[in-house]
Amino acid sequence: MNWKNLSFGYQKTNYNVRAVYQDGQWQDPELTDSETITIHMAATSLHYGQEIFEGLKAFQGKDGRIRIFRWEENAGRFRHSARGLLMAEVPDELFREAVFSVIKANREFVPPYGSGASLYIRPLLIGTGPELGVKPSKEYLFVVFVSPVGPYFKEGFKPVNMMICREFDRAAPHGTGTFKAGGNYAAGLRAVEKAHEKGYSNVIFLDAKEKKYIDECGPANFFGIKENTYITPESPSILDSITNKSLMQLAADVGMKTERRKVPVEELGEFEEAGACGTAAVISPIHKVYDPLEDKTYVIGHGTPGPVSRKLYEHLTAIQLGDEPDPHGWVTIVD
Ligand SMILES: Cc1ncc(COP(=O)(O)O)c(C=O)c1O
Repeated sequence: MNWKNLSFGYQKTNYNVRAVYQDGQWQDPELTDSETITIHMAATSLHYGQEIFEGLKAFQGKDGRIRIFRWEENAGRFRHSARGLLMAEVPDELFREAVFSVIKANREFVPPYGSGASLYIRPLLIGTGPELGVKPSKEYLFVVFVSPVGPYFKEGFKPVNMMICREFDRAAPHGTGTFKAGGNYAAGLRAVEKAHEKGYSNVIFLDAKEKKYIDECGPANFFGIKENTYITPESPSILDSITNKSLMQLAADVGMKTERRKVPVEELGEFEEAGACGTAAVISPIHKVYDPLEDKTYVIGHGTPGPVSRKLYEHLTAIQLGDEPDPHGWVTIVD
C-alpha cells in the first residue's frame, strides 16, 4: 500500500463486522468479508432516515502498537444518536468488541508510524425492519468497517477559507443537529456545494433561528482564540465534537481560559486565531471567512497557523500517536 498517496476515501479492506438486533436483543457480532448488505426495501433506514454513524481513528505508534482515541466518547455519542432517532442503542461493550475486532482483523491496513495516515473506523446503525407507516423499526443492523486514510493536509498544516451559509440550514434548534444522523449531512450538501463552487473549502452554518451566531463548520466544530481564551459555540443544533472537547481540555491544561457560549458572527473580527476541529483533520486553521450578508470578508491571522492552534494540534496528535504522555487516559491500546 502506498500510504503517502491515500486520500480521505473508501478503500477495500479484508473484513467488516456486523451485529443484528432482533426480538428485542443484540446477537453476537460476526466478521465478514462481504462489502454489501441486503436489506428489505421497506426498511425504515431507506424511507424514514433511521440511520446514524460514528467516526474515529486508530494510529500506529513508534512502538508498532495500535492506539485508538477516546472510543468511549464515540460509543456514548452513538447511543445518544440512537435515542434521538428511536433506534436500538448499541451497548458500549458491543461497540468496543466490534471496533477492536475489526481493527485487529485489518491490522495490515493500519498505516505505519510516520506516514501521517491513519485507520478511519466507521460504525453505522440502520433500521432494517419493514414498515410503511412512519414508526421506528423493530430490527437494526450495526456495521463497523474501516478504511486507511491519508493525512488530511496533503501540503501540511495550512489555513483554509470558509463561507458563511445564509441560504440553507443544516439543523433546527432542538431538531436532529446533536445526533450524528445521515439526514443532517444530506441537508447540508447544498450549502457545501455552494461554498465549493465559490472556491471556499467549506461552509460555516449559523444558528437556524436567528442567523446571528456561529453553529459549526461543515463536519467540524468551530473555535476561536482571543486574549488567551479558547471560545467555542454553545448551541442546541451542533454535534458535540470529541476533538473540540479534547482541545478545550488541553487549552485549560496550559492555563488558558475556556468558554462555551454563543459566538456572534461579528466576533470573527476579534479572534486572533480560529479553526474548524474534528476527527478528520484535528484542526483546520481558518484564515478568511466570507459573509454574503454584507459581502464582507473577515480576515483572521496572517495566512499561517497561529501559535495556539499549532501547539494544540501538535499536542493532540502527539497524544494520539503515543509520542507524549496521555494524562487524561484518552488513548486505548488495541493491539
Ligand atoms: C457535524 C459535525 N460536527 C463536528 C464533528 C467533529 O466531531 P469529532 O471531533 O467527534 O470528530 C463532526 C465529525 O465527526 C461532524 O460531522
